[in-house]
Amino acid sequence: MATKTFSRRQWIKNSSIVTGSLALLSGSLTDVLAVPTSLTKYVSTTETMSGEMLRRQAMAEIKARLSANENPFGPSEKAKKALIEAINKSYQYPMKTLTELTENIATYEGLKPENIMLGAGSGPLLQAAVVHFGKMGGNLISGDPTYGNIPNDMTEYFNTTWKKIPLTSDYKLDLDAMEKAIDDKTVLMYVCNPNNPTGTTVDAAKLKAFCERVSKRVPVFVDEAYIDYMENPKEASVMECIRKGSNVMVARTFSKLYGFAGLRVGYLVAQTPMLEAMKPLTKGARSISATSGSAALVSYNDAEFLQAALKSTTESKEFLYKVLKKQGYDYIPSSTNFVLFPIKMDGKKFVEEMMNRGVSVRYWKFNNQDWCRVSIGLMEEMKTFEAAFTQIA
Ligand SMILES: Cc1ncc(COP(=O)(O)O)c(C=O)c1O
Repeated sequence: MATKTFSRRQWIKNSSIVTGSLALLSGSLTDVLAVPTSLTKYVSTTETMSGEMLRRQAMAEIKARLSANENPFGPSEKAKKALIEAINKSYQYPMKTLTELTENIATYEGLKPENIMLGAGSGPLLQAAVVHFGKMGGNLISGDPTYGNIPNDMTEYFNTTWKKIPLTSDYKLDLDAMEKAIDDKTVLMYVCNPNNPTGTTVDAAKLKAFCERVSKRVPVFVDEAYIDYMENPKEASVMECIRKGSNVMVARTFSKLYGFAGLRVGYLVAQTPMLEAMKPLTKGARSISATSGSAALVSYNDAEFLQAALKSTTESKEFLYKVLKKQGYDYIPSSTNFVLFPIKMDGKKFVEEMMNRGVSVRYWKFNNQDWCRVSIGLMEEMKTFEAAFTQIA
């Protein structure tokens, strides 16, 4: 992993690009928990964290917060310094910083600034897609289980139906079945790669070919929130489909490997007319604070930090794998900062028992099985997980 990631990080380091970012917190309970709002309101068939449980988690004394796929190894020292330094000028709107960030992303991706739309995290940009495509009614297609924001909200607020396509036997998105599910009412194909909550990825070449073909029929939205955890994000990303002019959208966030979940910076990359159509539906860069903008600008270029965060994540993840194995549990090997494993008791009870021991995790139900998703935390948190898990496993 280290060798391959190095080339990408090194590229960033060596290039002249330097970037920054922004912030915005709604102050709601879900933001405090860094749990997507939609998950507290709508419980999909597979995602089972109720609003009540979220409230309990907020009140409980949490020793290991392993429920929101955050990166406790971030933000970087450089980002923190940039945040503080940006305070003095924070009476100004941060247009210059955010323009620079947009340009740097465009340069790195070989695209134009007009292909990039910043947002206060990727969540608001996903939400713009919800409204844009939801208005069309029809149906959307995604894997199941997957990240529920777009599908849940399109079905909850609009007349869209959701074609849920089960994963393959190795818990990957079944791209063939997803393609076959397209009909003349399909308005959107949603692909989460790596997929949340399974942490699995699909073959890059296959996904790119899929995007090329499918986008000729329906727009394809690829959520790459966790792509930075992959061995070679540049290769794994479908950004090249956008370079080729295909009707593909890519959502990215600083919330994960960059450690910005509370700072709120993300971006959507797409053909310019698509972004123009979404512009009235989101405040985009205007929701980003001067402080977060400056921190993102520095972080986007911080190869050293990204590699260190990856390394620490891997160490904690390997530790978790060992704990699970030792207790006789299986798990789905993960390309991300979370791991899904099948549990041997009712999911709700499991999560409650863990919470009683100060550990917050999440659970899912699919394939007639209850599953626990553990986010990767500090080694200390993983040891707290081990102590609690060993008691109830
Ligand atoms: C797959 C996926 N997409 C998007 C998001 C939204 O993240 P943010 O709004 O913090 O960028 C998340 C958050 O957990 C996620 O898991």
